[in-house]
Amino acid sequence: MDRRNPATITLISCLILASQLAISSLALASDEAKAEYSKKGADTCLKCHDEDNEYPVLPLFKTKHGELNDERSPMATLQCETCHGPGGAHQKKKKKNKPKAPIRAFGSKAWTPIKEQNSVCLRCHNDAPRNYWHGNAHESSSVGCADCHQVHVRRDPMLSAKSQVNTCAQCHQKQKIEFNKRSSHPVRFAKMRCSDCHNPHGSFDDKLIKTATKNQLCFLCHAEKRGPLLWSHAPVTEDCTLCHSPHGSTYSNLLVKRPPLLCQQCHSQAGHPATLYSGTGLPTGSGTIQRKFLLGRSCLNCHSQVHGSNHPSGVKLLR
Ligand code: HEC
Ligand code: HEC
Ligand code: HEC
Ligand code: HEC
Ligand code: HEC
Ligand code: HEC
Ligand code: HEC
Ligand code: HEC
Ligand code: HEC
Ligand code: HEC
Repeated sequence: MDRRNPATITLISCLILASQLAISSLALASDEAKAEYSKKGADTCLKCHDEDNEYPVLPLFKTKHGELNDERSPMATLQCETCHGPGGAHQKKKKKNKPKAPIRAFGSKAWTPIKEQNSVCLRCHNDAPRNYWHGNAHESSSVGCADCHQVHVRRDPMLSAKSQVNTCAQCHQKQKIEFNKRSSHPVRFAKMRCSDCHNPHGSFDDKLIKTATKNQLCFLCHAEKRGPLLWSHAPVTEDCTLCHSPHGSTYSNLLVKRPPLLCQQCHSQAGHPATLYSGTGLPTGSGTIQRKFLLGRSCLNCHSQVHGSNHPSGVKLLR
């Protein structure tokens, strides 16, 4: 630094100022050279970023982004520079194969701001799955497209059921572990993916639930619980997660608690009929439920239709 003359220092500070003002590299008016695209597109880049390079770029050509014949693909237009931005200055050799200027890079460690990275991808992917991208939990925590997606590999691990869980678990280890519990949705067997329930790109509902409400989500696969039923059970219509943990639970059937405690969160024993329904009339008495009826399936020994009933006399969810 100390050997630089004042003129160079002024120039450098101008450049720093300019880059602070610039929104994208295209806007760097004082640095025309940077806005220059290389003359031979990908061929220019591949001179240095070849098979021997430490970062393998070539598998991209086996993906949809490498399609030369699809006019929507980056390869059909400015090629590498569609994503990485103008590399006219970057590709000019300096010394020892070192590039002259930086070029747009992706990922949480890259120098390029996350917002700028994302806007590059959204130029082509601003469609329905990402309608709620702006302001979603990931976007507002500065998680970028490239923190989840890899484009320079033949198969993006995020898109396959086998590898998706581990990719999400890089940041959500706790949720991954919940799927190892005794009762759980079969995510650990790759029979389900996190994205069967969540839209990581953002959603209308809380917690990135991919449907408009939590119950609609459950109905996607458990349609028989949808109703309408003759006799419904209020909490079931309201929110399945009042009784079920969606990821996993140490209790059977993904229950948040074991009955009778599950039921007693909302129902008191006081006034409950004490004896077994005889079939000839309603049980009488006002004591607490006899202990033996609370063994095994507990309240469900009698109230077997906990999700609601279609039986004409199913009002107490007994049949
Ligand atoms: C003259 C050789 C050369 C050419 C041509 C070249 N690069 Fe590079 N590029 C490099 C080197 C060397 C690095 C490592 C930079 C460093 O370590 O400072 C690099 C780094 C990069 C990076 C990472 C930048 C970062 O900040 O992490 C990207 C992305 C990149 N190049 C893309 C391209 C693209 C796209 C082209 C074509 C427009 C291209 N390169 C052309 C040599 C080259
Ligand atoms: C110039 C437009 C363009 C840009 C920029 C672009 N893509 Fe794509 N992308 C496409 C096209 C076209 C497809 C193939 C879509 C199809 O077949 O329906 C695609 C497919 C994908 C897929 C699905 C791949 C698969 O195998 O199904 C992912 C994931 C993706 N892009 C992520 C990204 C990310 C992340 C970025 C930013 C780093 C990005 N894209 C930038 C055009 C683009
Ligand atoms: C938190 C992780 C995560 C982030 C961040 C993320 N994605 Fe995705 N993306 C996924 C998952 C998971 C899938 C598979 C979804 C599915 O199959 O239902 C996917 C699928 C895609 C697809 C292919 C299917 C489709 O939805 O069209 C494209 C394209 C895509 N993402 C682009 C993007 C872009 C652009 C961004 C940034 C604006 C982005 N993604 C950010 C996880 C992520
Ligand atoms: C669809 C957008 C897209 C296209 C097209 C694209 N890249 Fe990339 N590139 C990325 C993303 C995103 C990353 C970050 C790593 C990843 O997701 O795989 C990256 C990473 C890189 C890196 C490693 C940078 C680092 O941080 O070390 C180099 C080098 C590179 N790309 C060069 C190229 C070259 C050369 C081409 C053309 C053959 C090209 N890229 C085409 C999006 C793209
Ligand atoms: C069967 C559907 C389903 C699957 C599969 C699923 N989730 Fe969830 N997830 C939910 C629901 C529903 C909620 C909301 C829970 C609530 O509001 O009480 C949720 C909540 C979350 C939350 C918010 C914090 C928390 O734990 O409540 C995170 C983070 C999360 N899920 C990540 C994941 C990850 C990562 C995966 C894959 C390993 C995954 N989910 C798979 C349905 C699912
Ligand atoms: C690079 C890290 C990263 C990856 C990878 C990632 N997430 Fe997240 N996720 C976050 C951060 C940061 C938040 C916001 C803080 C929090 O709630 O933990 C978040 C929040 C969430 C939430 C809670 C939203 C809310 O409203 O509370 C869900 C659900 C979620 N992620 C699902 C997923 C799924 C599914 C995947 C894989 C497809 C995934 N995430 C991959 C970092 C990540
Ligand atoms: C993408 C499909 C899908 C969605 C969405 C879904 N489930 Fe499931 N669910 C399954 C599958 C598959 C099983 C396992 C069936 C088996 O093992 O035979 C299952 C099993 C269950 C079980 C029984 C678990 C056990 O230990 O036997 C309960 C309870 C359950 N789901 C509740 C829910 C709730 C509540 C929601 C909404 C938050 C939901 N499911 C959303 C597919 C789904
Ligand atoms: C009041 C608590 C409660 C609510 C709310 C609830 N469930 Fe259940 N669910 C249970 C109990 C208790 C069991 C165990 C039933 C048994 O052992 O016979 C169960 C079992 C299940 C099962 C596995 C056995 C079967 O019947 O297929 C599925 C699937 C299920 N529930 C889905 C749902 C869905 C979907 C919702 C929301 C529409 C929901 N549950 C709401 C208490 C509830
Ligand atoms: C989240 C709170 C909640 C939980 C947990 C819950 N219930 Fe309910 N239950 C209600 C509400 C609210 C009603 C409607 C009460 C009314 O209409 O007066 C109801 C109604 C009933 C009825 C019919 C009562 C009548 O007078 O028609 C029965 C029987 C019943 N619940 C049994 C159970 C059983 C068994 C469990 C445990 C598996 C359970 N409930 C768990 C809230 C809950
Ligand atoms: C031995 C069978 C049996 C068991 C076990 C049982 N119930 Fe009942 N319960 C009944 C019968 C029968 C009725 C209907 C009484 C009526 O119609 O007046 C009833 C009625 C109810 C009602 C409606 C009360 C009312 O005033 O109408 C609720 C709520 C209820 N039970 C909750 C529970 C809960 C919670 C448990 C577990 C702690 C449970 N029951 C265990 C047989 C049983």
